[in-house]
Amino acid sequence: MTSSSDITPTPAPERLARLRRYAQEDISGVTGWLQVGSLAAIWSLLETQIAAGIAGDVVEIGVYHGKSFLLFANSLDAGERAIAIDPLDQAGRRQKFEDNCRVFLREEQAFALHAIPSDQFREEGRCSEFAGKVRALHIDGGHVYDAVRNDLKIALEVLSETGFVVVDDMAHPWYPDITVAVADHLREDAALTAFAMTAANTPVTNGGSKLFLARPKGAGFLRKALRSALAHNFKYERDFVGQTIDIFDFHQGVQKNPLKSQSHP
Ligand SMILES: C[S@@+](CC[C@H](N)C(=O)[O-])C[C@H]1O[C@@H](n2cnc3c(N)ncnc32)[C@H](O)[C@@H]1O
Repeated sequence: MTSSSDITPTPAPERLARLRRYAQEDISGVTGWLQVGSLAAIWSLLETQIAAGIAGDVVEIGVYHGKSFLLFANSLDAGERAIAIDPLDQAGRRQKFEDNCRVFLREEQAFALHAIPSDQFREEGRCSEFAGKVRALHIDGGHVYDAVRNDLKIALEVLSETGFVVVDDMAHPWYPDITVAVADHLREDAALTAFAMTAANTPVTNGGSKLFLARPKGAGFLRKALRSALAHNFKYERDFVGQTIDIFDFHQGVQKNPLKSQSHP
C-alpha cells in the first residue's frame, strides 16, 4: 500500500506544461462544449493554484466525453484525484470518456468515475470522502433547477477554503432555470461568494456563460488572479444577487497573460 508520504510530487513546471499542452493542443481532439473564454479562465485559475501550492482534488459533474474534465485533471499533482460524476448511460459514452482519459492523462494522474446522477451521489453520502478537499468543481450536469440546487449543495460540502466552483450555462436562453437556481442558492446561503462571470462569445449551440464562485476566504485571491490573467478581457464589475462579480468578455478574442506568482491567503 502507498502512504501519502511515499508520493513524490510532480514539479510545478511539469504540471504547468501538461496543463498548457492540453489547453492549447489536446483539447481539440475531444468532442464537447467549452468556449475559449471560459477555457482561458479555468486554465488561469488552475495555473494559479499550482503556482501557489494549493492542493486538493478536482471534480466535474457532467463530463460527457471529458473535454473540460481533462482540463481540470491535467492540473493534478501526484496524490490528487480527478472525480467524474455522470451516469454516462447513453450507448458508447462511458467507453469514449474512459478512452479519452487513457489517451490524455498520465498513469499517475488518478481519475475515478461515479456513473450515477449527482443527486444519488449526494444522497448516498459520497461527498463525505471529499469534504473540504476539492480545489476545483465544475457543475455541468443536469441543466434543470433541482439538479443545480443539488450540485451547489455538493459544492458546499466538498469545496476547500481556496477552491473554486464553476457553474456552466448561466444566462443561457435555453436553460433559464440554471440562473434562477444559482440566484436562489446565493440568496439563501452566504457560504459561497460569486466573483466572476465569463461571457459566451459564440452561438448558443456552443454553450452559455460560466459563473465562478469560491469560499469568502479564497474569493479575493482568486478574483485578483483572474483579473491579472485576463486583464485585457475584463469588462467591468456588475452586481449579481447583491454580490459584485467581474465580467469578462471575449468577442474580440482571448488575451491571456503569463502566470504571475501569487501567495495564497
Ligand atoms: C453538457 S454535457 C457536459 C459537457 C462536458 N462538461 C464537456 O466538457 O463537454 C452534460 C452531461 O451531464 C450529464 N448529466 C445529466 N444529468 C446529470 C445528473 N443529474 N448528474 C450528473 N450528470 C448528469 C449528461 O450525461 C452529460 O454527459
